[in-house]
Amino acid sequence: MAKAVISATGLFTPPEVIDNDELVESFNTYVTQYNERNRDAIERGELTALEPSASAFIEKASGIKRRHVMDKEGILDPERMCPSLTQRSNEEYGIQCDMSLVAAREALESAGLSSADVDAVIVACSNLERPYPAVAIEVQDALGIEGYAYDMNVACSSATFGIQAAVDAISNGQARAVLVVSPEICSAHLNFRDRDSHFIFGDACTAVLVQHEDDVAPGQGFDILGTRLKTKFSNNIRNNFGFLNRADESGIGQPDKLFVQQGRKVFKEVSPLVASLIGEHLGSLGLSAEQLRRMWLHQANLNMNELIARRVLGRDPSEGEAPTILDEYANTSSAGSIIAFHQHHSDLGSGDLGIICSFGAGYSIGNVVVRKR
Ligand code: COA
Repeated sequence: MAKAVISATGLFTPPEVIDNDELVESFNTYVTQYNERNRDAIERGELTALEPSASAFIEKASGIKRRHVMDKEGILDPERMCPSLTQRSNEEYGIQCDMSLVAAREALESAGLSSADVDAVIVACSNLERPYPAVAIEVQDALGIEGYAYDMNVACSSATFGIQAAVDAISNGQARAVLVVSPEICSAHLNFRDRDSHFIFGDACTAVLVQHEDDVAPGQGFDILGTRLKTKFSNNIRNNFGFLNRADESGIGQPDKLFVQQGRKVFKEVSPLVASLIGEHLGSLGLSAEQLRRMWLHQANLNMNELIARRVLGRDPSEGEAPTILDEYANTSSAGSIIAFHQHHSDLGSGDLGIICSFGAGYSIGNVVVRKR
């Protein structure tokens, strides 16, 4: 069967940034206003007063210092607390398409390819701006790609599951080159009024170009040695938004139509699942954890990544072995592990082994074991 190679990656980083202090100031203004507005009911014991958030907690609990977002003003407005992203007309490309084009063009340029060389586009992400026509087909149209395109969603594991689909397409002869693009606007599904989670997400878009090994120059990119997917149902990360269950614009009163999680449970349940899947997967490829030069893990929580790396390696990871981008980007869902890969691979030498590993809602876990060519 034909082998597949990650020949290049691309990244779109939204220019607007919110640091923890700015986010906390907006949240705490909302808390003060809410408590004042409801003072009587709170005093009567009918409502519970809201507690303020704190930058020091956020950084310690998650490793997050700031996040890039598609619309800072709407998020920080205490009267609004969600991004103001106007719906585009049917004649314009959508916002996720625009994000995808920047990341995809960087990947194509870095691989030295043109659109004519690409056979398929997979848009793989947690939230799609509409059900159809597929965002991927819009990206395909905007880039002038022949062939086929489709959208898919496996929450935070969308990009790795998308890479698996690209590998399959190349192995069975459907395609020679596939673009897997993950335009994540996580700020639009985040409940910025929820103290437990208002800080965790940011926005970004990644692109991964997966090609037939014969089409990639020796020394360029990473051979994909194997992929491994795993899912296990859990309600601990959930979003009930859908065409049967719509939210009002503010999301107030319908917090289940936005992101909801039991963060502590997720941490406890997912970390061991991930560590054991990585161990099993490496074993099935005749590899061991000692041979890994790098782990590009899903970026949700710094402490969680350190724990997983420690479990896999059987020791504390050394500097740079499991790089994080959480401080700058926060959790960008499926884009996170790919951003870590994009920014932290150029120092690796021929033959070096690494693993891209995503995990999140579902639960879902996706591994891609790679070797520098
Ligand atoms: N500011 C200040 N204090 C806060 C706070 C905030 N914004 N949010 C919560 N706290 C308080 C809580 O009230 C609690 O106080 P208590 O100990 O007095 O009861 C304390 O901080 C700890 O809260 P907890 O929710 O248990 O924090 P945590 O250490 O579990 O960290 C997460 C929260 C979300 C950062 C963490 O659980 C996490 O990242 N989990 C993994 C989630 C994940 O991977 N999700 C995948 C999503 S795609």
